Parts: sequence; C-alpha cells; structure tokens
Amino acid sequence: MSDSASPLSPAGDRHFDGLADKFAASLYGGVRGELRLALLDHLLPEMLELRTQPLLDVGGGLGQLAGWFAARGHAVTLAEPSGEMLARAREALAEHEVNLLQAPLQALPELAPGPWSLIACHAVLEWLADPRLALATLASLLAPGGQLSLMVFNRDALRFSNVVKGNLEKALADRLEGRGLRKRLTPISPLTHGQVVAWSAENGLAIREVAGIRVFADYLRAPPANKADRERLLALEQCYCRVDPHWRLGRYLLYTLECPTHPPEEAVA
Ligand SMILES: C[S@@+](CC[C@H](N)C(=O)[O-])C[C@H]1O[C@@H](n2cnc3c(N)ncnc32)[C@H](O)[C@@H]1O
Repeated sequence: MSDSASPLSPAGDRHFDGLADKFAASLYGGVRGELRLALLDHLLPEMLELRTQPLLDVGGGLGQLAGWFAARGHAVTLAEPSGEMLARAREALAEHEVNLLQAPLQALPELAPGPWSLIACHAVLEWLADPRLALATLASLLAPGGQLSLMVFNRDALRFSNVVKGNLEKALADRLEGRGLRKRLTPISPLTHGQVVAWSAENGLAIREVAGIRVFADYLRAPPANKADRERLLALEQCYCRVDPHWRLGRYLLYTLECPTHPPEEAVA
C-alpha cells in the first residue's frame, strides 16, 4: 500500500473515517457494547465529581458519552477529527445542544483551550501514534482541580485474550499492536496501567480512581445464553470492576485523573 493510500493521519493516528459502521457494530452492537454503556452509566457518577460542569469530549466518536453528559445537564463540546464519525454524532445528538468541533486532540490547545474543569477522552489514546504526548496535551487543557475521565484499551488484557483465543505465537512474541490498516479494530497503541501511572506523574496528574471495563465478558467461552445470564454477567462486572486483581484485566481501564489545585511548589535550592 502506498503512503497516500494509508488510512493514518499525517501524525500517524487512526482517525475513524471508513470505520464508522464496523465500529458501531463491533464495539457498541451486542452484549459487549451493552456492558460498556451500562458500566459507564454505573461508574461515571461514582468516579467523577459531577456538578454539571461544561465537558470537553475528546475523540467523541458516535456521541454516546456526549449524549450521556448532555442528558445530565452538562454543556458539551465534542471534538472529533473524522467527518464520518462526526456526522453520525450529529444525528445521534440531534435532541441535545452539543457543540461539535471537527478537530484532532492535537489542535485543541488552539481551538478549545479552556481551561476545562471536566474532560473525557475514552478509547482514543490507543489510536494515536504518540499517546504519551497526547496525555500531556490533555493535561494542559485542564483547569486547576479539573478532572479527566480517561479510558484506554488495556494492552495486558489484549495479551490475555490472545492467549485465551489460542493465538499463542503472537502472544509469546508480544506482537499485540494493530497497524491501523484497512478496517481492523485492533488499536495501534494499546496501553498498560504502568504507562498511565508514569505519564500521569510526568504531567502532575493524580490518579483518583481506577476501574476495569469488562473484566470478565471478553474471556467467556460462549456469550451469555439469555437475558438472565446477561444480567448476571453485568452484576459480576459491577461487583468486581474496582476490585484488585480483577480490574487490572479489564478490556479497558477507566481512570479519573485530577489536575492539582496549586502548581507544584518550586524546589528550594
Ligand atoms: C474507538 S473510537 C472511541 C470513540 C468514543 N470516544 C467512544 O468511547 O465511543 C476512537 C475515536 O478516536 C478518534 N481519533 C483518532 N485520532 C484522533 C485524534 N488525533 N484526536 C482525537 N480523536 C481521534 C477516532 O476518529 C474515533 O472516533
């Protein structure tokens, strides 16, 4: 494939043009999508201090999260670089007053500098060539005391699910990353908890809360057979999503990161 045909942006990120249908079906269709939304509905009010602050949703995709916050009275700005995803979000959010901005994360210091007391960035960092720099950019947009709801695709869970599926050679070689080509939905930069801990510290962000999203569901041998089993699975996910060691193998890791109220004191010589 020549460079000009690459689906990656000049920065090397995978914007989701050409992926909207597949994304909607595989990530939000079916039991996994249902669980993701149900778990966020349960966890966000527990993990964030919500006071109807304005929200910046970075890489807002199809708009589900923006809709969730808008329905709770937040003034929402959804930033998304893919025109195709943004058009879907516009349709989905028609009943809400959401400000839609076609822009990548990297342009936000110029286009939506805030500072913001609440930012969400869910399932985006793993699609970027430089997620570490992206976290620094997000930190720069936060107001003192501001909260970042960060969700990332968990590299350790990706290894585990590859082993469970029998992809032993791939797992042993630690060849887990996708390449962002064609319509593949394996992220190009899956993250570890260790990276989030280190990069948060680099940017002076405190990790206030952490949870695993789908700590069991993606490892089942067979999908739940009926509604009662789907309910039991959700109950199990809710019970253990913040319990060690289970949260660590969630398909996604969900964090509340907080910007300090005061800048760190100058070191005294
Ligand atoms: C897996 S989807 C997640 C969408 C949404 N946040 C959610 O949780 O459903 C990843 C999104 O990140 C967007 N994206 C890719 N590169 C980006 C960038 N540089 N800045 C902001 N968003 C980006 C994609 O276009 C896509 O809509």
